[in-house]
Amino acid sequence: MEELEKFVSFLKLLGYEDVRLGTEEANLGSSVDELKRLEEEVKKCCKCRLCKTRTNVVFGEGDPETNLMFVGEAPGEQEDLQGRPFVGRAGQLLTRFLNLYGISRDRVYITNVVKCRPPNNRNPAPDEIEACWPYLEKQIELIAPNVILCLGAFAARTILNLPEKAAISKIRGKEQKIRVGEREISVIPTFHPAYLLRNRKGEPEFQKDLEKALKLAGFLNG
Ligand code: URA
Repeated sequence: MEELEKFVSFLKLLGYEDVRLGTEEANLGSSVDELKRLEEEVKKCCKCRLCKTRTNVVFGEGDPETNLMFVGEAPGEQEDLQGRPFVGRAGQLLTRFLNLYGISRDRVYITNVVKCRPPNNRNPAPDEIEACWPYLEKQIELIAPNVILCLGAFAARTILNLPEKAAISKIRGKEQKIRVGEREISVIPTFHPAYLLRNRKGEPEFQKDLEKALKLAGFLNG
């Protein structure tokens, strides 16, 4: 199998982009490997100014073969220190919501639009989002989920290519479809968990959106 994979890599080097091994298992193996290779590449990234102030790159974590991806905005202080997404207060809230449904974090995949912490938790700048987008796009392509839950306006605007003025309160809960490669993916925007920490009254709507995503991804019976 290793020899075959090498041969496929060689063909790709020659420009044959769409070469795949015959078995589903082999292709899964190669996309997991490719995700690991991408992570190594992103850890060395210095395409924007955020590489100068980060402690760690926060690539993302979870099940690389999951049906459900969560995409947030950018790492905060704790995430930057630990190199893991959503481990601070907002992340703990997200984890509690998942656990309500008996689902642990390692069954989904969690990442952010921007992989390095913006200083003092400022919003990511448009050029930083643009520099990081190819990494998120590749993650989506390799993980190939059925559903993406966008946590907050930055994720929704980036993934759905919406204008800056698109308000999360207007678009939340509305399923939209995107095409990544040959795959159609359902995208659901919702509130960012950090917003919920300040506005507890948003929780029922967040929970409704989360349930919708869990059902569409096959984690709950719909
Ligand atoms: N907020 C985010 O958007 N992402 C994290 O990983 C943590 C907080």
